[in-house]
Amino acid sequence: MTRGAAQDTLVADFNDLEAVEALFAANPDQIAAVIVEPVPGNMGLIPPLPGFLEGLRRLTTAHGALLIFDEVMSGFRVALGGAQALYGVTPDLTCLGKVIGGGLPIGAYGGRSELLTRVAPEGPVYQAGTNSGNPLSVAAGLATLEALAVPGALDGAIARTRRLARGLEAAGFEAGVPVVTPVVGTMFTPFLHTAVPTRLADVQRGDLPRFKRWFHALRDRGISIPPSQYEAWFTSLAHDDATIDATLEAAGDALRAIA
Ligand SMILES: Cc1ncc(COP(=O)(O)O)c(C=O)c1O
Repeated sequence: MTRGAAQDTLVADFNDLEAVEALFAANPDQIAAVIVEPVPGNMGLIPPLPGFLEGLRRLTTAHGALLIFDEVMSGFRVALGGAQALYGVTPDLTCLGKVIGGGLPIGAYGGRSELLTRVAPEGPVYQAGTNSGNPLSVAAGLATLEALAVPGALDGAIARTRRLARGLEAAGFEAGVPVVTPVVGTMFTPFLHTAVPTRLADVQRGDLPRFKRWFHALRDRGISIPPSQYEAWFTSLAHDDATIDATLEAAGDALRAIA
């Protein structure tokens, strides 16, 4: 990120609609677009508060700015139609990453045709990429989408995710270690907190050293979790009931070890 790009970027807290509103008021006709992870996983999973995404849609439309959803994590994970289907808020542009390549290198963006027709060869904006349309990535992506679209497949994964999340909270309660685990679709994060974080500052107030000890205690028990409290966890179709049970058993044991 160059200094110039940073200078041209305004930052507001996720879930703080008033802050976004204040930036629009302070920078009239200057804001081209609002870019947001609608279900952010990059500070641990923080669900959008009711009205936040709807408010972004309202503000961007009112000020003639684009609303861009980064669904690199949430696409196909929180619902087959991504966060925009789950919350019923339609952005102008959507970015997808490895999730649309079944985990292989690729990226994609989509949106309203009046925007996409501005891209070459129809329009003047040139774009190309090494992995654009890469056959292996696209085949993996299609196979993933077919597996997810089997009736009941994603719903089953979401149900197992909820069971895992509630089980982790219960294991924390039994071990005397506070655990709260927000879940959206197959994304979740067990925070070692007493209350569900709604902002980055809440995550920063958590017991980060203790999370580190939990990570190592779980690894010693054969379970590999994201190495930071600032990462979302994902379940996939491969995480069956037996995997969830084994994870819960190890997690409870590891929580008792770090209590
Ligand atoms: C939400 C989100 N957006 C964007 C990216 C960057 O994706 P890429 O490396 O495909 O540009 C990541 C990477 O993990 C991500 O998690």
